[in-house]
Amino acid sequence: EKDIYILAIESSCDETAASVVKNGRKVLSNVISSQIALHTQYGGVVPELASRKHIEKINQVISCALLEAGMGLEDMDAVGVTYGPGLVGALLVGVAQAKSLAWAADKPLVGVHHIEGHICANFITHPELEPPFVCLVVSGGHTHLVVVKDYGEFDILGRTRDDAAGEAFDKVARAIGLGYPGGPKVDALAKSGDPHAIRFPRARIEGCPYDFSFSGLKSAVLNYLNHAKMSGETVNSADLAASFQNAVVDMLVSRAVAAAEEQGYGKLALAGGVSANSAIRRGMEEACGKAGLKLYYPEPVYCTDNAAMIGSAAYYEFRRGARSGWDLNAVPNLKL
Ligand code: KG4
Ligand code: ZN
Repeated sequence: EKDIYILAIESSCDETAASVVKNGRKVLSNVISSQIALHTQYGGVVPELASRKHIEKINQVISCALLEAGMGLEDMDAVGVTYGPGLVGALLVGVAQAKSLAWAADKPLVGVHHIEGHICANFITHPELEPPFVCLVVSGGHTHLVVVKDYGEFDILGRTRDDAAGEAFDKVARAIGLGYPGGPKVDALAKSGDPHAIRFPRARIEGCPYDFSFSGLKSAVLNYLNHAKMSGETVNSADLAASFQNAVVDMLVSRAVAAAEEQGYGKLALAGGVSANSAIRRGMEEACGKAGLKLYYPEPVYCTDNAAMIGSAAYYEFRRGARSGWDLNAVPNLKL
């Protein structure tokens, strides 16, 4: 069978990224221009600044991706691009660029769902992984428990009712004064703290065993900090970070493992930026070991936003015959 090469583009939030992926699993290049330094000054992503930065960087990032792969646009079988969900202005930059390149080079265009990309990151790290399996997608904008029935076929078992897991990490990090993006900083600080020092609530949603809620936990952390401030007590930030993280781990692990056991495929995968978290990985390893489930998660670089995962998803969509028209638009609240 002929090899399929995809040029993939990702610009849904604060990373401008491009990648060349062979047959959905082999990454020939993975270029990421991060805007973290830009947004750190504001404590979070400023959408308008993100769009402008994408415009500045995108051509260079795509050229680098092709150069590193040692290929030209003419060698590609298709151009894949994230068209949602995400920040509309940011998405539009990638979509417009992908359309122009595909049109100019007379290549098929494949619009990709960002979450499908996160899930497919597992195919890059684990060449042997095949559907069906259960996947927990935890990122800055999403918390979904998904059954991956086949390539490109998903059933959503549960989702967050309020904040995404990564959002909770980022807000708690900000409250402790760790800065943006908070997840990796909480992860690092928690290593020197006691996860049982403070008992924070673990929310459950009546009748929806696979749904999540993180806003109560976030409020409990903020209340704890306020209370300490008012009464002049000093807060041990490491204990706070570790105890918060422990509550998140409990909530994610219990639901993901229960869902994987119920589905009966014997496989659980993690995806999204938060799946880079060391305590979550440890908690999942332990629980999956006990439950006899095989656990998969992407290498850290494919957990957070990147274009290689979009190239993998685009390949499986392409193989299924999916083609986007020249009217492809950014869809900020695209559903899976
Ligand atoms: O997948 P991603 O790059 O972007 C979205 O699609 O949202 O995820 C970014 C999120 C941020 O909230 C960041 O704080 C979180 O992932 N994150 C982490 C860790 N690394 C990144 N959260 C907890 N622990 C980490 N080690
Ligand atoms: Zn993402």
